[in-house]
Amino acid sequence: LNRVAVVGCGYWGPNFVRNFSQISDSEVAACCDLSEERLRHMRALYPYVRTTTRLQDVLDDPTINAVVVATPVTTHFRVAAACLKAGKHVLIEKPICPSAREVLGLIDLAEERGLVLMGGHTFLFNAAVVKVREYIENGELGEIYYINTTRVNLGLFQEDINVIWDLAPHDVSILNFVLNARPVAVAAYGRPYIQEAVEDVAFLTLEYPRGIIAHLHVSWLDPNKIRRTTIVGSQKMLVYDDVATLEKIRVYDKGVTVQPHYDTFGEFQLAYRFGDIYIPKVDDSEPLKVECLSFLEAIRKGAISKSSAYEGLAVVEVLEAAQRSVRRGGRMVPVADTLKARRKRRAHRAAARGAGR
Ligand SMILES: NC(=O)c1ccc[n+]([C@@H]2O[C@H](COP(=O)([O-])OP(=O)(O)OC[C@H]3O[C@@H](n4cnc5c(N)ncnc54)[C@H](O)[C@@H]3O)[C@@H](O)[C@H]2O)c1
Repeated sequence: LNRVAVVGCGYWGPNFVRNFSQISDSEVAACCDLSEERLRHMRALYPYVRTTTRLQDVLDDPTINAVVVATPVTTHFRVAAACLKAGKHVLIEKPICPSAREVLGLIDLAEERGLVLMGGHTFLFNAAVVKVREYIENGELGEIYYINTTRVNLGLFQEDINVIWDLAPHDVSILNFVLNARPVAVAAYGRPYIQEAVEDVAFLTLEYPRGIIAHLHVSWLDPNKIRRTTIVGSQKMLVYDDVATLEKIRVYDKGVTVQPHYDTFGEFQLAYRFGDIYIPKVDDSEPLKVECLSFLEAIRKGAISKSSAYEGLAVVEVLEAAQRSVRRGGRMVPVADTLKARRKRRAHRAAARGAGR
């Protein structure tokens, strides 16, 4: 039986408490939060669960083998590092840390100790997203041209991170997953309209390999809640609407082809295709539950199947590039490959040591 502690029981953390309480091979051993008020709320919901304001109580409890970190992003590194050092497996909310350097630090701590470190990229466990990846992988949409995503609503304004770090991790993790690729460069515009120096609206352009461009609109300042991804391919077009209760995915047999044979420009013709719209059935299990089960499976098998810290690192690298681009007025910024850079640095150092001998 896995005994899980949930650290951070604000808006999102209680969802982990609910799921791990319901799963048969796990139980919630403790809820930890700095706020007594949040702990009172958790005790009202789960009277049998131990609550504490001290992380040390969690670290010192040898019966707790796994911890969920659902605290504000700027505290992730400190909390997760302490848990890993205490020998606990860690499931850490997205974005894993506010810098790639910190994510790498956690990866090292986990690997040195043979512990699971998994990122909380919930959408990777969403059946609709898995379906979208299948459509792309089996070639149904043809060659992918471009992708447009909109993730907007009014709030929730955060104080410690801007809208790029809050909302774009979802879209970047989804796109990296469905395209099975990572962007090479990012250009981003953002503005802080409400809070000083915390961007609440941003537009990101991601350049993926094979000429694919993705445009992301993220905002805390919009009258409507929209979570929509449009994928345009050479054969078909797909719209994934996460707000829709039914019919989350629509595949449009629509497209444009250039007539292959023409001798003069006058004969040049485009053929528009308006075919059927297909709505696939999508499993409606709760993505967070699937994520929790996947975390427990990773502990059991010692191998992570999805949302590894490496995938989380790739997301953070994109966010860092986007942040840099915003500061540079929207200039295109290459996405760093932290692991490759580190391998190179180590090889240089080894070569220098060899030369010195
Ligand atoms: N995957 C998702 O869909 C999703 C959705 C919402 C939030 N999140 C992520 O979850 C995390 C938390 O977000 P939230 O919206 O719940 O924030 P929140 O501010 O509502 O809750 C954070 C809680 O952590 C507590 N806390 C702060 N520092 C602490 C510490 N050092 N030790 C223990 N408790 C501490 C606070 O008192 C608060 O109750 C963030 O990383 C966020 O990005 C993910």
